[in-house]
Amino acid sequence: MILWQYLTLLLSITVQICKAQRCEEFTDLDLSHSIIGTNLKIKLLLYTRDNVTCGTLVSHTNLSTHPQLNLSRPTTFVIHGYRPTGSPPAWVHELTELLLAREDINVIVVDWNHGAANANYFKAVESTHKAADNLTAFIKIMQEHGASLSSIYMIGVSLGAHISGFVGANLNGSIGRITALDPAGPQFTGTPPEDRLDSTDAQFVDVLHTDIDFLGFREPLGHIDFYANGGTDQPGCPKTIFSGGSYFKCDHQRSVLLYFDSVNRKCTSEAFPCSSYKEFLDGNCLNCDRFGAAGCPVFGYGVTEWRDVLLRLGQTKTYFTTNTVSPFCRTNYRVEVMIWNKDVRWGYITVKLHGNDKEAVATIDHKASEFKKYTEVKLLAQFDKDLQSVKKVSIKFSTGNVCKTKYKFRVLRIRLTHLERKERPLCRYDVLLEDNKEVTFRPLLCEESNF
Ligand SMILES: *[C@@H]1O[C@H](CO)[C@@H](O)[C@H](O)[C@H]1NC(C)=O
Ligand SMILES: *[C@@H]1O[C@H](CO)[C@@H](O)[C@H](O)[C@H]1NC(C)=O
Ligand SMILES: *[C@@H]1O[C@H](CO)[C@@H](O)[C@H](O)[C@H]1NC(C)=O
Ligand SMILES: *[C@@H]1O[C@H](CO)[C@@H](O)[C@H](O)[C@H]1NC(C)=O
Ligand SMILES: *[C@@H]1O[C@H](CO)[C@@H](O)[C@H](O)[C@H]1NC(C)=O
Repeated sequence: MILWQYLTLLLSITVQICKAQRCEEFTDLDLSHSIIGTNLKIKLLLYTRDNVTCGTLVSHTNLSTHPQLNLSRPTTFVIHGYRPTGSPPAWVHELTELLLAREDINVIVVDWNHGAANANYFKAVESTHKAADNLTAFIKIMQEHGASLSSIYMIGVSLGAHISGFVGANLNGSIGRITALDPAGPQFTGTPPEDRLDSTDAQFVDVLHTDIDFLGFREPLGHIDFYANGGTDQPGCPKTIFSGGSYFKCDHQRSVLLYFDSVNRKCTSEAFPCSSYKEFLDGNCLNCDRFGAAGCPVFGYGVTEWRDVLLRLGQTKTYFTTNTVSPFCRTNYRVEVMIWNKDVRWGYITVKLHGNDKEAVATIDHKASEFKKYTEVKLLAQFDKDLQSVKKVSIKFSTGNVCKTKYKFRVLRIRLTHLERKERPLCRYDVLLEDNKEVTFRPLLCEESNF
């Protein structure tokens, strides 16, 4: 009897050991591999909701061995970029977990570290076409097993964005979506569409630019292109080389962090179509009428909500700004100021919103604005956070004048309009400001006639 129980126990332990899956990890190489140079090898790591932290190595040819890969579900490929040191990308696990928390899908991490890890960037670039052909063959097998191309989504970072594009082109643009996170510029800038990502590579292509003056791609590549903070320098990233290695990659890597905030719905960054970043900062592009009731597109995972209108528009270039750390999103208000001073006044405005226990600040200082009698000046104010209810408003006007003359600034009306929430604008009439002195007041709901 005891022996029998013992045997049963032993059997159940054995079964459990066999069931306990081995987790496959992303290839970890080091600098010496990169210096010698690596040849392309591709590992496909599958993650599902069964276990979001444990990757399964997927066969390139025989999908019947993987019951976890349920092809009735959509499949999202995550494709990294150049790996100069050979280390695994730090963001892969977090992205996988966030994607699976958001939707019940198959996430396939494409590990091409052998190939991407090469001190010679040009060799890594050469591998992108081969990597794409390899992935194309795999997707065709998925198709044979019942996957539909329109349920395939590729998220490509840097060089990975162009790999996604090549795969999409191989499949005649019929995969559902490509998201390019700061697509690589060097060796791709100025090339014809077949040698880089372009909007014909998938049914819908959305692109984020964060480092157009160095590692990223300057020109628009998709149906919608988002230029975060103008696409050049990201706030909080080092501005000089003396800050060490992060100087080279901080702007570029920010693209992934901005995307995280959209996948986990931490906050929303509304993006405004505009011809240039300067025009956007000047407040000349705050009209979202062409998007109807949905308003301007929100950057990131959920931009598919605007897909139909964006496809109709062909190509849309948009801008938004961010904070220095997550939550990166900022809150946009249109600020309209009308003065009745006799003389023209030039100056900068700082606006503070006070909520119940929080305060949000926007300084409109990219250039001095010109204020003229009875002329309404329209400004874009970007606050570091969103306050649900604004109790008080402070404004400060500064001319930058160092002389002793204390300029007075007679405001006939100031109006603040939240650009995302459909609510009555906040107004204040007849305020007297003094150069560099903050004035705080309770805002009123604007009169209807002011709309
Ligand atoms: C793709 O790459 C893997 C590993 O690098 C290899 O085993 C497989 O045969 C390749 N597939 C094709 C179609 O070349
Ligand atoms: C997922 O896999 C890891 C590693 O094998 C394991 O430690 C963990 O318990 C698993 N989680 C679940 C929910 O099965
Ligand atoms: C694919 O894998 C299944 C299950 O492991 C096996 O039965 C089958 O023979 C394999 N097919 C090929 C073509 O290798
Ligand atoms: C595969 O996914 C579909 C859709 O989520 C689901 O209805 C089906 O039960 C799944 N099949 C298996 C074998 O888990
Ligand atoms: C793409 O188009 C070419 C040429 O028309 C065709 O040969 C090929 O089969 C198509 N591929 C797919 C995946 O539809």
